[in-house]
Amino acid sequence: MSAAREPIGVIGTGYVGLVTAAGFAELGSDVVCVDIDAEKVARLNRGEIPIYEPGLAELVAKNRERLTFTTDIAPALERARLLFVAVGTPPTYSGDADLSAVNAVVGAMPASDRHALVMKSTVPVGTGANTKRLFAEQGKSGFRYVSCPEFLKEGTAVADFLAPDRVVVGDDGDWAGDAVVDLYRPLLVPDEGGNGPGQLVRTDIASAEMVKLASNAFLATKISFINEIANVCEETGADVVEVARGMGLDERIGPKFLNAGIGFGGSCFPKDVTALKQLAGNSGYHFQLLNSVIEVNELQKRRVIGKLEKHLGGLVGKRIALLGLAFKPNTDDMREASSLVLAARLQAAGADVVAHDPISGEVAKPMLRGVELAPDALSAAHGADAVVLVTEWQEFRDLDLADLRAAMRGDVLIDGRNALDGEAAVAAGLRYEGIGRTARS
Ligand code: UGA
Repeated sequence: MSAAREPIGVIGTGYVGLVTAAGFAELGSDVVCVDIDAEKVARLNRGEIPIYEPGLAELVAKNRERLTFTTDIAPALERARLLFVAVGTPPTYSGDADLSAVNAVVGAMPASDRHALVMKSTVPVGTGANTKRLFAEQGKSGFRYVSCPEFLKEGTAVADFLAPDRVVVGDDGDWAGDAVVDLYRPLLVPDEGGNGPGQLVRTDIASAEMVKLASNAFLATKISFINEIANVCEETGADVVEVARGMGLDERIGPKFLNAGIGFGGSCFPKDVTALKQLAGNSGYHFQLLNSVIEVNELQKRRVIGKLEKHLGGLVGKRIALLGLAFKPNTDDMREASSLVLAARLQAAGADVVAHDPISGEVAKPMLRGVELAPDALSAAHGADAVVLVTEWQEFRDLDLADLRAAMRGDVLIDGRNALDGEAAVAAGLRYEGIGRTARS
């Protein structure tokens, strides 16, 4: 795409690391990707992409000669000044972020005046300050630190990298922050010297760390808010889809993340909302709102059970088909997926559960004991008393609802994402109920 640019290292080849590496390679950098998982590195070296992410395999293949995959940190240190850190920060039992992988990276760094860690992993506010303290204690105070949080969405991560809303760089105003901004330059707005849409936010390290947590917590709050509006709509005869349309036209509110459904999942929102709540608590502030955001989300996953019970008059011996398992479409990620809670609750209530997901079946299998996995939507619906749309994959939106009805034993269709045409469902002989809309039959 452009002339040779600064080589970089990326530590961690999960979805953030791999997309970042392939993205910077596309912009012209040589990238040394380091991962402790030898098997993953071997797969990447064979040209296999360990995760499902649209466009990623193509981007990696296109830039193959600029990408090196290794378990050894030495070539990254030798060739690159900037070492992007994209390792996991999963929640601990208490909900705090587990920083052991981040700390292992910090510990593995040599004393150097030439290098900087650029933190992509989502970390608590204060991690930068702690890392700098650790570096100082270990005699590595020449090592620079930059916070550069990631805003990629699974399913559209490649497009998000190449056309970011904003690029946030938190640093101490030194060469390392300048070098990170230069790397992103082509993706920044013309005023910043680029030809992309990205607004630059250059700030201090703690503020950059907080932008990430606050953004995810705000989006999660928006979802829990519209889900509660949906629940009130059900009681009052309003239609949440119409309400969200009316609200979203106010520019201050905006139309995005106002889709009511059966709760948010994924590797980020549940973890980051809890982590921010914990971070606040640990620093002596009780973040009231976030408790409700989490609680509403848990209850929202369970409300579908009530709808099924109401329509079927009990769940014992009933066959329920789940369409979609992944936490959202276009990913095989099952982390914190609402389908897991739903399936377990249905089984506990005595129902037989069958499911189909276009991609995540194999990933989901070990997590869904006793759930029958069907090869396609109509096979899942075959003989079912009720069908629940859990994840709004396009192929489910395109389903012929008359075929769906014909495959079923019963006639109940619960649309957990308000993604289907309720009138067409009724015309096909189904009893249709969405989220926050009047049931139709
Ligand atoms: C989220 C953020 O959107 C990204 O900006 C961020 O970089 C990422 O977390 C991260 O921290 O790594 P992601 O988890 O990929 O991205 O998924 P989203 O598209 O944000 O969806 C999250 C959940 O919210 C899904 O379960 C989705 O079904 C649900 N959702 C989303 C709703 O229920 N309603 C909506 O209107 C929107």
